Amino acid sequence: MSNQWQVLTEQIAKPNLQRLNYPLFEQMNVQVWVLRLDELHPLLSGNKWYKLKNNLQTALQQGCQNIASFGGAHSNHLHALAAAGKLLNLNVTGFIRGYGHQPLSPTLIDATEWGMQLHWLNRLDYQRRYEQIYWQELASRFSLTNPVYWIPEGGSNLLGVQGCQDILLDTPNYQQFDTIVAACGTGATLAGMISVAKPHQQVLGVPVLKAEPWLQQVINDWLIKLGTQGAQWQLLSDYHEGGYAKLSTELVAFMDDFIQTTKIPLDPVYTAKMMKAVVDQVKNKKIASGSRILVAHSGGLQGCRGMKQKLTKFRDTLSSGASSFD
Ligand SMILES: Cc1ncc(COP(=O)(O)O)c(C=O)c1O
Repeated sequence: MSNQWQVLTEQIAKPNLQRLNYPLFEQMNVQVWVLRLDELHPLLSGNKWYKLKNNLQTALQQGCQNIASFGGAHSNHLHALAAAGKLLNLNVTGFIRGYGHQPLSPTLIDATEWGMQLHWLNRLDYQRRYEQIYWQELASRFSLTNPVYWIPEGGSNLLGVQGCQDILLDTPNYQQFDTIVAACGTGATLAGMISVAKPHQQVLGVPVLKAEPWLQQVINDWLIKLGTQGAQWQLLSDYHEGGYAKLSTELVAFMDDFIQTTKIPLDPVYTAKMMKAVVDQVKNKKIASGSRILVAHSGGLQGCRGMKQKLTKFRDTLSSGASSFD
């Protein structure tokens, strides 16, 4: 194993637990701790580190210096993978959904500066991103140096899910919490957490996209593959605001107020929706008085740069006093 791997893993902090001071929580007599995965490392943090670490380690153990994956222009996963490429001196290639003539997003500007090679795939090609035979076609079409270690979109493979078990295992005394909450995209992060949660704990996932019922099925399938039923769990499916990266004036107002009150940064795509769900569940007594709640801050803050224009429009609407934004 390379010396760089050891250096990197020593640089990655263990996640900090931060007790939230938020008036509603005191009023409702619940204690909420935020697991600050966003603070693990300046470039490589959040649930993305947990999803990538076993994959990176396996690639290095196999002596494989070339890694390829897929994602959108604002992908937290590709951003983290590009950072890993820089920190571990690996060749990384990102296959991006969309067209290369569009201006590069801040995410992809970072990724290219860190050495990631980008190739764009149109909608039809991108649909083939899960086919291993297509990976071989891509490797030869774009002359990737073999062998290539392929990581699926979002880092969501079995090694990624197993890595996410460590989110809880790295949390000091995680057994003390009654309720554990995380944002869900592909569900891989939540599946890993459910699988190691204790029977007395309840795990709540907040899908940030319209995901029922397939997400339920995907998480169940991961639990079967891991050979465990894990703790009781539930998806809170009413907080996606219309879909992935869709916002509302209420969400933006909530996020801005939350950040100002707690000084904890949120992103509008994942963590703001999750935190709004937590507040709403407590307010409506869906989470019982006396509960101790662990909320995983899964990072994604780099993605805020790509949402700036959208956020400005919502904030302008809020400051003009209008009640909705078209
Ligand atoms: C910041 C952030 N939080 C949560 C998630 C959801 O993770 P998963 O796809 O494993 O459900 C993602 C990624 O997809 C993410 O980037």
